[in-house]
Amino acid sequence: MNKDNHHIKVSLTNNPYEIVIGKSSLESIGDELFNIGFREGQKVLVVSNKEVSDHYGDCIIKSLIKSKFKPKLLIIKAGEDQKNQSSIDLIHNAAYEARLERGSLMIALGGGVIGDMTGFAAATWLRGVNVVQIPTTLLAMVDASIGGKTGINHSKGKNLIGAFHQPRLVLIDPKTLITLPSREFKAGMAEIIKYGVISDLELFDLLERQENISDLSNIKEKLLIEIIKRSAKSKAEIVMKDEKESGVRAFLNYGHTFGHVIENLCGYGKWLHGEAVAMGMVAVGQLAVQRGLWKEDNAKRQKRLIEKAGLPSNWPKLEIESVLSSLQGDKKVKNGKVSFVMPLKIGDVKLFNNISNKEIRECLQKIS
Ligand SMILES: NC(=O)c1ccc[n+]([C@@H]2O[C@H](COP(=O)([O-])OP(=O)(O)OC[C@H]3O[C@@H](n4cnc5c(N)ncnc54)[C@H](O)[C@@H]3O)[C@@H](O)[C@H]2O)c1
Ligand SMILES: [Zn+2]
Repeated sequence: MNKDNHHIKVSLTNNPYEIVIGKSSLESIGDELFNIGFREGQKVLVVSNKEVSDHYGDCIIKSLIKSKFKPKLLIIKAGEDQKNQSSIDLIHNAAYEARLERGSLMIALGGGVIGDMTGFAAATWLRGVNVVQIPTTLLAMVDASIGGKTGINHSKGKNLIGAFHQPRLVLIDPKTLITLPSREFKAGMAEIIKYGVISDLELFDLLERQENISDLSNIKEKLLIEIIKRSAKSKAEIVMKDEKESGVRAFLNYGHTFGHVIENLCGYGKWLHGEAVAMGMVAVGQLAVQRGLWKEDNAKRQKRLIEKAGLPSNWPKLEIESVLSSLQGDKKVKNGKVSFVMPLKIGDVKLFNNISNKEIRECLQKIS
């Protein structure tokens, strides 16, 4: 075990696992698999896309061979539009070719798209083979790779097909972020700010104290590891309390209800998910001010931090009535009432189920 790596336990009753974070953890994948009980000779299907595997594929394969595993690398196309049944077929075909068995393993090496698809392919092949997540985007490191939600898109909507399938290990190597496009890095920072607001005041303060959080080259390695660690821990804690999303896991949707509206109405591709969430957090912050739930000053602090991260904070030009009808289509609507996770203070949120259209209209008029 590399003593420089940080370990976070995700203590689920049936599927406990660890999140390992370290600056050279990629090279130690073989050893880490050994530590959790995988043994030499075991078959491993590594799934990635070209952009990622060109940089990190060799390193993973070498480490696996060194530890005497039998790896195969499958490259599939990158992009949200590839998160579909055809990609799952490709992974399943490769699993068949490689003769994967129940005890075999798939490794997802990439962003949330690769992670969700590989996780889902693993959940469904032979009724479930092992999966390890090696996230290479900031968003996947702090969010998508942790918690066991896997899936693909359906022509009628995002993530409509899926399964809960917890990974055996999440291995985070922050040095992979060096090659990540800067806009993707900033988008991941939105989810980190989210953790600050929903559960970690210290993280929020820490980010506020920094001069620069928008540009990876100006963020010291120690700080980067600290913010990834704190965020991953927040996500893990929420998942431990509510593995199957029947309660507090909803807090992770802070900023997402309005964010999804932006993604829907502006068309997928215009804004990255994290950017839409950033604007969504500012909007719901205003809704909370209006309700007297938190102070105007908190809303300002949140907006300033979002801007410091180089993220958009102004509500885009959208017809108010279109926003209201889009909200009605949200997965989280129950009995026609829209639910919002709203902040009570920085580090504490609550779910409200009864927000009226009148209130939402008033908020949108204020921010438009
Ligand atoms: N399962 C969950 O709980 C969960 C949570 C949040 C998001 N998601 C899903 O995650 C997906 C979004 O994931 P994402 O934001 O990571 O985007 P992504 O996977 O599409 O990656 C973004 C782009 O960056 C490239 N890339 C990734 N890592 C790189 C690296 N280190 N260097 C260079 N290029 C790199 C990818 O090839 C891709 O082009 C969505 O499909 C979303 O639904 C899932
Ligand atoms: Zn998100």
